[in-house]
Amino acid sequence: MKIPIIRPSVRFDDVAADIRTVLDSGILTNGPFLAQFEAELAAAVGVRHAVATTSATTAMHLVLAAAEIGPGDEVLVSDFTFPATGNVVVERGAVPVLVDCEPGGFRLDLDDADRRVTAKTKALLVVDPFGQPAMSTELLEWAAARRLLVIEDAACALGSSREGVACGAWPEAPGCFSFHPRKVVTTGEGGAVTTDDDEFAARLRLLRSHGGAPGPAIGLSFVAHGFNYRMSELQAVLGLDQLRRLDAIRADRQATAARYEKRLGAIQSVGLVTPPAGEEWSYQSFVVLVDERDDIVTALRDLGIETTLGTYALHAQPVFGPLGYAPGDLPESFDRQQRSLTLPLLPEMTSEQVDEVIAAISAIIGARRA
Ligand SMILES: Cc1ncc(COP(=O)(O)O)c(C=O)c1O
Repeated sequence: MKIPIIRPSVRFDDVAADIRTVLDSGILTNGPFLAQFEAELAAAVGVRHAVATTSATTAMHLVLAAAEIGPGDEVLVSDFTFPATGNVVVERGAVPVLVDCEPGGFRLDLDDADRRVTAKTKALLVVDPFGQPAMSTELLEWAAARRLLVIEDAACALGSSREGVACGAWPEAPGCFSFHPRKVVTTGEGGAVTTDDDEFAARLRLLRSHGGAPGPAIGLSFVAHGFNYRMSELQAVLGLDQLRRLDAIRADRQATAARYEKRLGAIQSVGLVTPPAGEEWSYQSFVVLVDERDDIVTALRDLGIETTLGTYALHAQPVFGPLGYAPGDLPESFDRQQRSLTLPLLPEMTSEQVDEVIAAISAIIGARRA
């Protein structure tokens, strides 16, 4: 593709020395780079603890396990998301209860969540779609009144904030980040949980590493059925380099998004979702709404421009059907699945590249109307 949808912001020369240090040390896991990555991630988010994992999926699974959510429990889950958000609830033996999007936007509709609360509801797993923060004081107060644990799927939201609170830093709501290559910061694969709660962080660390606590003498004492969800030292090296440039990475993405927003605003049939005042968006993805989205994706591909859908309406995916949903049952989310279009947003994307994408979309839409 002449213009791919994303390119990671990490260069070999920036990490070569640290990669050599790791290899020369022979410490490939559980070493100083992981500790440093966790410390700097916690500082960047503004929390006491960051517990790195192998992905956002395992981060969310770890949180649900540490919170002892399981069979007999229901978890409210944003419907418009990547399937991992619902899958982790199923993998715990609990039931995901899917919640529609707000009208016209991508974030969770709290009124719809309210309608779906039952005596079995234990938690709300809320997604920050494309780095658009969905958490708010209102949401936390609503959840507290119903004694629900709030878990933030901040997979796409490193560097985003709302009401002056960074994603992943909302009180008593563990945040789950992804470092997949399509994210703002990437470690190849990777993730993390952020929390201010010392005890919860200790539980996460225990379960992340097989449930083994320091033993009475040598070896470990296995006190819980845990997992191996540990991030490696080489991954931590990649993450650290980008974390230290996070402000610049976000500013660059925001500048590209601003150019898109200004110029796409002139094309009537392209729907824009833009940040309300007081919000900072990381723009993990730049997503617009269009009719006949699939035809536009195909036409752009023919021009060498890679695009895709925004994300999925879980209720319309075959695997969630047996939970009692039919496509369209959650109409806002279904509409977003059908009409959302992710445009390329590359590190240091040139104005010419942005304008080429916009001109191509404009020409395709114009030709289809004619
Ligand atoms: C909202 C959301 N949650 C979770 C995930 C899963 O992240 P990971 O690939 O790190 O497990 C993704 C991945 O795209 C996502 O977009």
